[in-house]
Amino acid sequence: MPGIVVVGAQWGDEGKGKITDLLAERADAVVRFQGGNNAGHTIVRNGKTWKLHLIPSGILHPGKLCVIGNGVVVDPRILTDELEALKRRRVDTSSLRISANAHLIMPYHLMLDHAGEAKLGKLQIGTTRRGIGPCYADKAARLGIRVQDLLDEKILKQKIVAALEPKRLSLRPFAKDPALDLQAMTEEYLVFGHRLEPYIADTIRLVHDCLDSGRVVVFEGAQGALLDIDHGTYPFVTSSNPVAGAACIGAGVGPKDIDEVWGVTKAYGTRVGAGPFPTEVDGAFAEMLRERGGEYGTTTGRPRRIGWLDLVALRYAARINSLTALCVTKLDVLSGLERLQVCTRYRGTEGAEFDYFPYHQTVLHHATGEYVELPGWSEDLSECRSESDLPDAARDYLKFVAEFVGVPISLIGVGPGGEQVIWTEAGAHMAPTVV
Ligand code: GDP
Ligand code: IMO
Ligand code: MG
Repeated sequence: MPGIVVVGAQWGDEGKGKITDLLAERADAVVRFQGGNNAGHTIVRNGKTWKLHLIPSGILHPGKLCVIGNGVVVDPRILTDELEALKRRRVDTSSLRISANAHLIMPYHLMLDHAGEAKLGKLQIGTTRRGIGPCYADKAARLGIRVQDLLDEKILKQKIVAALEPKRLSLRPFAKDPALDLQAMTEEYLVFGHRLEPYIADTIRLVHDCLDSGRVVVFEGAQGALLDIDHGTYPFVTSSNPVAGAACIGAGVGPKDIDEVWGVTKAYGTRVGAGPFPTEVDGAFAEMLRERGGEYGTTTGRPRRIGWLDLVALRYAARINSLTALCVTKLDVLSGLERLQVCTRYRGTEGAEFDYFPYHQTVLHHATGEYVELPGWSEDLSECRSESDLPDAARDYLKFVAEFVGVPISLIGVGPGGEQVIWTEAGAHMAPTVV
């Protein structure tokens, strides 16, 4: 059972960081395979909070191989800052390895992300403005600069010149920005290269070695299925594939190396940024859940939009990811609600009904949820550690979800802390021996 993928099954921020950290206990390696520092993964362990953007969520386990895979886009400034911050908190980062083939976020990618959003005005995507889209665009255009290029001044400079050339017009408003000066940019990135050199490696071989000797590798996704550039709510998506299939591409393994896929979902829904969200609620109720769940972006601090659990979307996410297990986090946040709603169908315009995720943008933009109402519970769940500790209504809620989606639940989150989880029978084989 060596390869296990952890992916977001909604619009991101489902609690992937916490789940990855828990699985890392039994793993030998943790590999991030896509996205960049648009991600914000929170781990709460022994009362301490860690917010990671690029470094895999296995880093708190000393000596475990942590890989930033070739599919990730790396802002070296953020990565060096993150390394420094961890070192200051006495975390041993010596087992981090960065793929030499990962692409670099350059200063002009940040500028283009800002400019792109400004240009879209009211139609903006609400990106994290971390340069993710422009960096992946350069990768596809074969104008990307990779981690290995940081180690060769001549090549680095040549590649920056080539990458800047077709962007001259769109970068004109930034012409006077010192960050765009060729010499200054090259020098700055060479310094990053110098600092990161001990970590740069042929990570694919490291991951193969682990898998070939039967050791457990956790592949950590960022974002979530509905932000997938192919399968999400395009164009309101990120610029990579957060689905499980991308673990193969972004880490350099084959489909047969993946044995399990764990999809993480909150017990309700959230989304940051613009785009369709059929089960969205607003007003005082949304406000209350937002405060209770601490629903503010880990990366940008933006308030997250709130909605009921969308089982149409979750079933779709389960299918496109081949989920073998569901992790349902934040069940504790729903305590105290008399009745809960879960969306089992969408209603479109002119009475159309959908029990599957519609592919058409217009349909999706007009879709609203149709709900099944389930009884709530009043008990505080934060101390529950087994399914039998849960109130009947909470167990029934989870049963409804698992049956509707057709995937067993392996883990239930009842608080942010690593110990605030319930491992079910389906997840027990991955439960940490010590938390
Ligand atoms: P990620 O991007 O998927 O790793 O998720 P984030 O870290 O951005 O957001 C999840 C938030 O929920 C974090 O603040 C976690 O500490 C918190 N969290 C995770 N699981 C639970 C849970 O079961 N209950 C509660 N109340 N909070 C949780
Ligand atoms: P984690 O890994 C939630 C959203 C942005 C925006 C869209 C595109 O913490 O779950 P981008 O900067 O990627 O071009 O923005 O995607 N987004 C996320 N939302 N969690 C994330 O990551 C996200 N990463 C990007 O808000 O709507
Ligand atoms: Mg997050």
